Amino acid sequence: MISKRAKALKPSPTLAMANRARELQAAGKDVVSLTVGEPDWATFKVASDAGIEAIQKGFTKYTAAHGIIELRQEVAKQTSAQMGVSYSANDVVVGCGAKYILYSVLMMILDSDEEVLIPAPYWVSYPVMVELAGGVPKFIDCPAETNFKLTAKLLSAAITPKTKALILCSPSNPTGMQYSREELSELAQVLKNNPQVVLISDDIYNRLIFSEAALSPHILHVAPELKERTILVNGVSKTYSMTGWRVGWALGPQAVIKPAADFLSQTTSSISSISQKAALAALLNGEPELLAVRKKLAAKKDQFYASLSGVKGLKLNAPDGAFYLWIDVRECLGRTHKKANRVIKNSSELAEVLLTDHLVATVPGSEFGAEGYLRLSFATSQENLAKAAQRFQDLSAQLF
Ligand SMILES: Cc1ncc(COP(=O)(O)O)c(C=O)c1O
Repeated sequence: MISKRAKALKPSPTLAMANRARELQAAGKDVVSLTVGEPDWATFKVASDAGIEAIQKGFTKYTAAHGIIELRQEVAKQTSAQMGVSYSANDVVVGCGAKYILYSVLMMILDSDEEVLIPAPYWVSYPVMVELAGGVPKFIDCPAETNFKLTAKLLSAAITPKTKALILCSPSNPTGMQYSREELSELAQVLKNNPQVVLISDDIYNRLIFSEAALSPHILHVAPELKERTILVNGVSKTYSMTGWRVGWALGPQAVIKPAADFLSQTTSSISSISQKAALAALLNGEPELLAVRKKLAAKKDQFYASLSGVKGLKLNAPDGAFYLWIDVRECLGRTHKKANRVIKNSSELAEVLLTDHLVATVPGSEFGAEGYLRLSFATSQENLAKAAQRFQDLSAQLF
């Protein structure tokens, strides 16, 4: 009955792992879940208040399919200030989270069999979305030596006449690494030499960083001339802890933004009117709370990093932003877990034994296109982080 497309579809592995953790918790197990990419602190009060006010005032009907003008204006204003290039409300399309926006953009730019370059490790949804849009994901392995980042050399070698787009995510999910201005300048040079390549810049974590800077370095800071073929993707989910409100956006050239707006009008209509008011309030008044959250997040990162540092078998990679710790577990592989009496062959098996024998839920690197790693989300309570660290010690004692 179902299409080839439906048959090929896999559920999001991060959400699948999170569900398993929830099921075990519901069965009374004390599972610490480090799976899902979601802040564990509340939606910013200014945003929630604006949502309540929208309901009370009856702002509860369809809006323009690509978002209310006030929100698009504010997104354009703030993004222009952040990137140092000029956008107007017409250059913005608002949709159901950065996720559906990314999918919509891919639907608008890809013809069948066109290739999209995806640096690996990558966010789990990129390849699936490219395939759903009829394109072909082409992975570029980015090794530990470059901090899992794309280099100019790797990018040049990967571009072919079929290349339509490159997706860059900085700071990255799953590694938390961000590109420096120098690294971005080198990548920009390659893009300038290959004018057919569209750049999709997934900036969803670019304000959740551990330095004093307001946001991560961006390719438009060093190469504003790429603006005409760059599509910026962002939203309120991570920055203002609004994952459930489902508000994301893209900014870019009219050639893409206009059809993307039409695509939304034919597929989702507008997103929730209430969420749009809440997102606008977060953008207008969320800054003080964001600064506090960034401090809290940096403290969690420091605590978790320090508590896992001495654990035999784990090699840590200090993240620049987001809320993930990307750990190299290759030393653990090929060893026997004494209690489970099994040889741990790969990162999936390690994640499995961690969950069943040590009650810590993680996502294996293989899901992000990099075997030998685990992704741990540290956006959880300090108690959970301490518990998880102790359980990693227990795992290590079973293996070494
Ligand atoms: C790299 C990356 N991009 C985009 C998204 C989508 O965010 P949302 O759809 O909640 O705006 C996520 C969420 O996990 C992500 O990690």
